[in-house]
Amino acid sequence: MRIVIQDNYDKMALWAANYIADKINNHTEDRPFVLGLPTGSSPIGVYKELIRKNKAGEVSFKNVVTFNMDEYVGLPHEHDQSYWYFMHDNFFDHLVDLPEENINMLNGMTDDPEGECRRYEEKIASYGGIDLFMGGIGVDGHLAFTEPYTSLSSRTGVRALTTDTRIVNSRFFGNDPEKVPATALSVGIGTVTDSKEVLVLISGHNKARALAATVEGGVSQKWTCSALQLHNGAIIACDEEACGELTVDTYKYFLDIERGERL
Ligand code: GLP
Repeated sequence: MRIVIQDNYDKMALWAANYIADKINNHTEDRPFVLGLPTGSSPIGVYKELIRKNKAGEVSFKNVVTFNMDEYVGLPHEHDQSYWYFMHDNFFDHLVDLPEENINMLNGMTDDPEGECRRYEEKIASYGGIDLFMGGIGVDGHLAFTEPYTSLSSRTGVRALTTDTRIVNSRFFGNDPEKVPATALSVGIGTVTDSKEVLVLISGHNKARALAATVEGGVSQKWTCSALQLHNGAIIACDEEACGELTVDTYKYFLDIERGERL
């Protein structure tokens, strides 16, 4: 696992955007670059920088296919808290050359949630899997909506959200946890870890416990993010604030090991 520690959120976002743009630009296989994407506040700076690069002609999304991590059940596209709305508002609508048909998102309004999730997995497989899955993380260590105790080999499925997650996410729903949908469609941990690379953004004091559990704890379904320890291409991009619960040894180790990359 690589842990790239940056001074602050903006530098972390810039680092991640550069990393993703380089991967897209250096992709030479005779098929699209398949990019997994999250919602949330963590990726916003990355999206801003990727949009800037795209408009400046520094990276093209013409040959990129995207798959989003998750979607609330029961929120229509036009609901401003649906992840469909978030992604179009914060990213897709601003890119100059991403074909609309290359965008894949789970449909939270489907009459057949199980079938929807199965088809999503099949579609990912039809492209030969995901090249790079960018993710954020919940304060309880969830990736997408893989709440604590979701199987580490889980696939895309219907997930019940914990009360804790609904409380945390209620900041977008008028601070009323009851207004946060109780279920979501979400990729599984297995879906994420099948990707060639996984890049997780972890920023801020409130994520410090989750970062420590991801890196220093044992692999455990209590902290589903800890499954990344078994992935051969996992990178965590984080800021100083998120490092608050790491031991000094761990912190120094990763600064040391990444020093060459920083020069
Ligand atoms: C939600 C999303 C996750 C996201 C998490 C953290 O629960 N389903 O994909 O990573 O929130 O969001 P934020 O980046 O806003 O802290």
